[in-house]
Amino acid sequence: MTRPTRIRISRREAFNAAHQLWDPARSDDENRRLFGKCVNLHGHNYAVEVVVRGDVDPATGYLIDLKRLSDLIGREVIADVDHRNLNTDVPWLSDRIPTAENLAVAFWGRLRPHLPDGSLQSVRVYETEKNWAECSDAE
Ligand code: NI
Repeated sequence: MTRPTRIRISRREAFNAAHQLWDPARSDDENRRLFGKCVNLHGHNYAVEVVVRGDVDPATGYLIDLKRLSDLIGREVIADVDHRNLNTDVPWLSDRIPTAENLAVAFWGRLRPHLPDGSLQSVRVYETEKNWAECSDAE
């Protein structure tokens, strides 16, 4: 039997949400100095790109059914953040300033428990066409 092939696949989903970069523990002036105009409530068309790695199952030719991955991202992330205010409307984001970096870490935490051990490689959050932040495993 031939050795299984190590492979990566990815699913991209999109959502729209509002946020402001604002630390409630700081004064107005400090927040404005730290975050500039991003202290004002504004919206982004976000995208999230999830990369999973593993071996091809010879029975199906799949690493993972991308429909299943899409459903997982939809259920664990998109359903809670789409058309929401990320500062106030999402209980599992309430302890952090909703930067792209912090979103990537939080989304990783939402998805990781539902995927086979070691298979989640990275979660990348696009805040704009030009900006993304990625959370990935240590390997
Ligand atoms: Ni922003």
